[in-house]
Amino acid sequence: MRLYRISPSIVVLGFMIGVIVLGVISRSFLGDAFWSMNDEFGFVNRTPVKGPGFPPIFAYWISGSGGESERILRLLKAVYHPRNRYLLHLDAGSLPDERLKLAQAIQSERLFRAFGNVEVVGKSYAVECMGSSALAAMLHGAAILLKINNDWDWFITLSASDYPIVSQDDLLHVFASLPRDLNFIDHTSDLGWKEADRINKIVVDPSLYFTVNRPLFEATEPRATPDAFNIFTGSPWVTLSRPFTEHCVHSWDNLPRKLLMYTTNMAFPLETYFQTIICNTPEFRNTTVNNDLRYFVWDDPPKLDPLFLNISNYEKMTKSRAAIARRFTESDPVLQKLDEDVLKRSPNGVGAGRWCSGPLMNQKGETLDSDVCASWGDINVVEPGPAGEKLKSLVSELLGDEALRSRQCKSQ
Ligand SMILES: *[C@@H]1O[C@H](CO)[C@@H](O)[C@H](O)[C@H]1NC(C)=O
Ligand SMILES: *[C@@H]1O[C@H](CO)[C@@H](O)[C@H](O)[C@H]1NC(C)=O
Repeated sequence: MRLYRISPSIVVLGFMIGVIVLGVISRSFLGDAFWSMNDEFGFVNRTPVKGPGFPPIFAYWISGSGGESERILRLLKAVYHPRNRYLLHLDAGSLPDERLKLAQAIQSERLFRAFGNVEVVGKSYAVECMGSSALAAMLHGAAILLKINNDWDWFITLSASDYPIVSQDDLLHVFASLPRDLNFIDHTSDLGWKEADRINKIVVDPSLYFTVNRPLFEATEPRATPDAFNIFTGSPWVTLSRPFTEHCVHSWDNLPRKLLMYTTNMAFPLETYFQTIICNTPEFRNTTVNNDLRYFVWDDPPKLDPLFLNISNYEKMTKSRAAIARRFTESDPVLQKLDEDVLKRSPNGVGAGRWCSGPLMNQKGETLDSDVCASWGDINVVEPGPAGEKLKSLVSELLGDEALRSRQCKSQ
């Protein structure tokens, strides 16, 4: 079936020698943009324009385990923008059937097919979130994203229990004005209790060598704190620049490789790996911004994971100026509130942005559904809302000369 998309800001053209092709022309026709045509979508400008004055491109790696494919799908829709790249990964805790269903769900969305920017890792393997298999999986995700697209600017890692608290237009707007080499990595060299409990403790992660997820086990002997590099530790949730991601994955320098091997026997290497590499590498050190742009609430005393957020956290969460919050239980009502108030996301649709041109209509001008992103305009312009302004104020504070340098890779 051919769909007719009509909205006030969109011109529907019917032309082509011999055939009638109905397509969409966005508000601004960009000379150097690439227009492609196929039967299903008509004309869709699918290649994001990059460069000064244009928003960046994010590469999202979204990971989860068995039973989390619905949440991953919802999260994907919440952080979706046609400019970005997405890679979804379900570990060996999921059944082949669940992975297949996720891939089919992606395939069945007209939007994802049109922009072709969502991929699912087909082959599953074991991952223990506390162990080095989680770091290996993340680096694998980064390597795939580097391989399939050479246009993205930042690599952002998400888990199935995360949710955005700003829209993609907000995030793209804030990052548009930033130097593309910045890395948002929360870090400290003050190891505290972690020195004895994490750094000096030797663990084994059986998920590295078994097909199903298995918990870590501890060795009895401790080991000394390294002196060949300074250990830094911090939040496992990072936003990495493309150059730094390439550095970690392709490692012409030996430190990323050495650290990968060293952290094999460490619990929570995601809290140490990127932090230690960046702070021990002179050419990347100055690109570190000491913040993870996340919102968490910890129990007192803190447990391994932050508390589940709910509607009682809404006020503080949305005032926090962060970009992403964690953790949420599946279908907590606060997610719906975020969908409605912040992301403007209809129940099955994606988060709205300036690129959305309104619902589908039939030839009589009757609306076929309520999804404002069912037809598509210019993917090279964004329109931030109030949440974007808040995030922007946080980022300007973080990047102030004094603030940036004084918090960057400080050795205790
Ligand atoms: C990093 O910043 C410090 C202090 O501002 C400066 O001395 C150093 O040259 C910078 N390093 C690089 C590689 O730009
Ligand atoms: C929200 O979470 C807090 C802390 O986890 C809990 O005490 C409270 O009962 C929860 N509120 C609702 C409405 O679920």
